[in-house]
Amino acid sequence: MQNIPFFLHGGDYNPDQWRHVPGTVDKDFELFPMAGINSLSLGIFSWSVLEPEEGRFEFGWLDDIMDRAEKRGMKIVLATPSGAKPNWLAAQCPEVRRMTGDGVHEPTREQQCRRHNHCPTSPIYRRKVLQIDEALAARYGSHPALALWHISNELNGECHCPLCLAAFRDWLRAKYGSLKALNEAWWTGFWSHTYTDWSQIGAIDFSIDGLVLDWKRFVTEQTASFIRSEAEVLRRHSPEIPVTTNLMGFYEGLDYARLAREIDIVSWDNYPQYHERPGETERLAAFTSLTHDYMRSLKRGKPFLMMESSPGPVNWWHHNRLLRPGQHRMKSLQAIAHGSDSVQYFQIRKGRGGSEKFHGAVIDHEGTGGTRMFREVAQVGRDLQALQPVLGSTVRPKVAIVFDRESDWALKASFGPLDSIKNSYADTVATHYIPFWKRGIPVDIVDGDSTLDGYSMVVAPCLFLLRDGFAERIERFVADGGTFVATWLTGIVNSTGLCFTGGFPGPLRKLLGVWAEEIDYLYDDERNSVVPVPGNSLGLSGNFGTSVVCDVVHAEGAETIATYGRDFYAGSPALTVNRFGKGEAWYLATRGDAALLDALHGTLARRLSIPRAIDSDLPDGVSAGMREGAGGERYTFVVNYASEPRAVDLGPAARHDLLDGATKSGTVELAPFGVMVLN
Ligand code: GLA
Ligand code: ZN
Repeated sequence: MQNIPFFLHGGDYNPDQWRHVPGTVDKDFELFPMAGINSLSLGIFSWSVLEPEEGRFEFGWLDDIMDRAEKRGMKIVLATPSGAKPNWLAAQCPEVRRMTGDGVHEPTREQQCRRHNHCPTSPIYRRKVLQIDEALAARYGSHPALALWHISNELNGECHCPLCLAAFRDWLRAKYGSLKALNEAWWTGFWSHTYTDWSQIGAIDFSIDGLVLDWKRFVTEQTASFIRSEAEVLRRHSPEIPVTTNLMGFYEGLDYARLAREIDIVSWDNYPQYHERPGETERLAAFTSLTHDYMRSLKRGKPFLMMESSPGPVNWWHHNRLLRPGQHRMKSLQAIAHGSDSVQYFQIRKGRGGSEKFHGAVIDHEGTGGTRMFREVAQVGRDLQALQPVLGSTVRPKVAIVFDRESDWALKASFGPLDSIKNSYADTVATHYIPFWKRGIPVDIVDGDSTLDGYSMVVAPCLFLLRDGFAERIERFVADGGTFVATWLTGIVNSTGLCFTGGFPGPLRKLLGVWAEEIDYLYDDERNSVVPVPGNSLGLSGNFGTSVVCDVVHAEGAETIATYGRDFYAGSPALTVNRFGKGEAWYLATRGDAALLDALHGTLARRLSIPRAIDSDLPDGVSAGMREGAGGERYTFVVNYASEPRAVDLGPAARHDLLDGATKSGTVELAPFGVMVLN
């Protein structure tokens, strides 16, 4: 990325909130080089300052910051201000304010308050946004400091106003063509909800899950079209400047795979709740790594940007604990390990008022570079300079795990079959991710629409909804030699939420060689066990626990690897493998404990010779990642997430650590939260 010549290290900077405090900007620009701050994200919430009254623009303060940045060789991430609307606009044109709806009562118009709450359909809002975007792009589009456009901020939520509902009906008409097709796809005969006129589609009625699913898709499309309209203006003025919008990891309201098509670079805001609770580190660290991988995979390996993170505690966790010394560095380099080309913060200078005045910042209220967090930020600045050769390199996994947002929506929209797992799809995916993470095996996160070329192994945990064509694609993948692992609650509904007929797991029944006749949902405190079949072809031995769900399965050609230990289905298959073409299709019929998932994925990865970042067993709390350059250079990141030192076996070959310049081999001790980057 030629616009981004170094790892961006900076973040949200709001000098417009300090204009009445002379000297602040001078002081900040003295402090930036001391912390290695080389980029500023500007104007994210500055609409009312940039356009204090309709049509009157004030750019002087922004000109000043852009020019100061340019003189110092810094890069600017310039935002469009559509994330928060000015009071004058909201007062003058009520339609720009979102209407909230619960699917039952008449939607209500929000008052002007907070942020991220515009109507994405309102022609007035779009026109006003594009006007100010046009002014910004015309003025700064060719400014030498400009590196990236930042569209809006954390786009989220939905609007139930008449304009949005009318647009939804148009979208449905285009999708289905006729009410007959829509009524069939949504199964509207249920509770007498057959639509006889398009105008009857009003409430987002949660008794029709097909409607809810399509509404979610529409909200994503409407958000995509909002992004596109802004991007068009920016690209017209500065075709060479990439655009992004900052995403929110596993935020469930939008299908990010779809939104990613509208932007040039994926960026996201990372706020893991790292703190010192025994037993939590590994889950949190793995989940954070998983989220980075998900974000990177949205553009299949192209480096992403960590657009925000907190240098210190935030103000919105239940416990806003301090980051322990070294944890900030660990969390920052974790992002780089997974493919980020930046460590950006919210925020650079801590504000004195507003609801985020206690949120972590590079420059504290105290106002100097003398704070612990400032020093830790400065350390990251030095690290990023040392890592310059890594910039632009990518991650090339052989393993893909399926996380499908549409499937998540379908599961959430569905009443039953198991309500307690509705909100834990991402956590379930994480339980399958951890065995790879612990082994330092890079993973991509794909969805039911992604191409599977280049992977040796695809794992689809709990893939409730199957997109059209997925079964055919995964059959081809396996026939060609791939290894596929599916689990319980997979292949239950189609793309409009209708249950598959002909036996679960629906269109995957033939590939997996099993029929899941019944699904038993256990009480929260209930357990069953998984007992390996003696002499099974996986070499699985021991005894494993399981909970939550047990499919009662018939093997139809698949080999049974393990069976249930208890209940009326004791002895029936709990884990199977079906040979199909040149590959294998595995079915895990029950949730399984961590040991079972570890044994299953660990053994399969070993058999498939899937490369690990480090060819040794990593101690608890340590993971390793790998980035690869265009010329085949490899950078191995080893991160100790634990608060105690850990010994890591690097093998006999001498390797160079970019961070401390030392040559390393054999067993090396990593300090608490310590990091190595070897090449
Ligand atoms: C989000 C927003 C920022 C700020 C931070 C606080 O990521 O984008 O504006 O509110 O949260 O953590
Ligand atoms: Zn609306």
